[in-house]
Amino acid sequence: MATLKAVRGTRDLLPPETELWNRVEATARAVFARYAFGEIRTPIFEDTQLFARGVGEETDIVSKEMYTWEDRARAASEKAQSLTLRPENTAGVVRAYIEHKLDESGMLQKLFYIGPQFRRERPQRGRYRQFWQIGAEVIGPAWSGSERAIRDAEVLEMLATFLNEVGVKGWRLALNSVGSATDRPRYVAALREALAPVKATMCENCQRRAETNPLRVLDCKEPGDQATIEALPKIADFLDAESRDHFEQVKAALDTCGVPYVIDPRLVRGLDYYTRTTFEFTVPDGSGLGTQNALLGGGRYDGLSEMLGGPKAPGIGFAIGEDRLILTLQAQAAEATPKKLDAFVAPIGAAQNPAALQIAKELRAAGLTIEVGDGDFRLRKSFEAADKLAHRMVMVGEDEVASGILTVKYFEAGEQTKVPRSELAEALRTVPAK
Ligand code: HAM
Repeated sequence: MATLKAVRGTRDLLPPETELWNRVEATARAVFARYAFGEIRTPIFEDTQLFARGVGEETDIVSKEMYTWEDRARAASEKAQSLTLRPENTAGVVRAYIEHKLDESGMLQKLFYIGPQFRRERPQRGRYRQFWQIGAEVIGPAWSGSERAIRDAEVLEMLATFLNEVGVKGWRLALNSVGSATDRPRYVAALREALAPVKATMCENCQRRAETNPLRVLDCKEPGDQATIEALPKIADFLDAESRDHFEQVKAALDTCGVPYVIDPRLVRGLDYYTRTTFEFTVPDGSGLGTQNALLGGGRYDGLSEMLGGPKAPGIGFAIGEDRLILTLQAQAAEATPKKLDAFVAPIGAAQNPAALQIAKELRAAGLTIEVGDGDFRLRKSFEAADKLAHRMVMVGEDEVASGILTVKYFEAGEQTKVPRSELAEALRTVPAK
C-alpha cells in the first residue's frame, strides 16, 4: 500500500522548531498586549461571498486560489451553501465586527489573530497552501479616531518594535498611499487610458485586467511587462488634498518615532479593499525566503465594512506570514541551537524508575524542565541521552534513594557533586550550567 503523506503545500511542524513558533507567538502576544490589542478568533471557513465581496472577485486570491466547496444541506433547517477556507483573516474580522455590532461601543476595536490561512498557490520555499498569519486590525466608527493617521503610524511602529524584539535583522518598510474611494476612480480611469494602446503587448492576465480591474496590472510579476508597468501613471499624482495630507501625517509620525521607511509608488497590494496607506515589510536577500521576501503586508481599508453591508468603519491592519518569519529567523541564526533542558533524571536500574519519576515530578513542580530516563537502559546510554538533551544529570540509584543524597553531574563544567534531595531544585536552578 502506498504510504500517505501530508498534502502538497502543507507540512508538519515538529519540535524543536515548534519551540521557535511558540516563542514568536508569545512575543507577538506580549507586544500586542502593550499596545492594547485583544485576541479575536474567527472560523476557519466562511461563506464564499465574504471573500468575493471583501477581497475582490478579480484578485488572484479569489479568482484562482481559494479552496471552495458546495456544502450540501443535511437537514430541512439548513441551506446548501458555498463555503471557503479562509485565504486571509481581515474579511472575517470585519464580518465579526459587523455581526457583533462592535461599533455600538463607539470605541476603537484593536484586535489581533494568530492562525492558519489557505491559498492554492504553487508551493515553494516560503509559500504554502496552508500557512500561518499573525495579524491585527484597528477598526471603529469614524468618531473613534479610526481614520486618523496616528493609527497608521502606531500600527507601523508596533510592527517595527515586534520585528526588533523577535530578532529580525535588516527589515525594510515600503510605504505607499493608494488614495481614497474618490481618488481611486480617477486613477483607474487614467490607468485604463494609458493601458489601451499598450495592453496588446502585455501578458494574457494583464490584457484581461486592463479591462476588468486595471489596478491589478500593477501586481503583475511577468518580467516582459515590467518596463510597460514602470511607464504607467503613478497613484501619487492622483491623490486629493485630504489623502495627501493624511499620508504626510503618517510619514511625519514615523519620522518622529524613528521608524525608517522607503516610498514605493507601485505598492498597491493584491487585495481590492485597500484605501490610502499600504505597506509591506521585506527582508534582505539571503534571509532564507528566496523570492518570497515579503514578510508581512497590510494597509487601510476604509470602505470594507460598507462593502460587506456594515456601518461606516474605517480600519487599518496587517498580517505577518509566520512561516516566512520563522524561515527568516532560522536563516539569520537567531535561534540556531535548540535550548537544553535543566536536567535529565536517570534511574540506575529498573527498580528505581518509580523513584526517578517522583523526583522528576518534584523538580517539574518547582518549574524546572526535566526529562526522565529509563533504568532498563545501560548507564552509558542514559549518559549519552542526558548529555544531548540537558545541562545536568541527576542519578537515582538505590543508595541515593535510601540516603536522600543525590549525585548531580554538570556536563559543561565536567563536575559531579552530591546534593540533598530537599535542596535539589534550588541547586539545579542556581548552580550555573557552565
Ligand atoms: P497578504 O499580503 O495577502 O495580506 O498576506 C500577508 C502575508 O502573509 C504576506 O506578506 C506573506 O508573508 C504571507 N503569505 C501570503 N500568502 C502566503 C503563502 N501562500 N505562504 C506563506 N505565506 C504567505 C493579507 O492577507 C491581508 N489580510 C493583510 C491585512 C490585514 N491587511 C489589512 N489587514
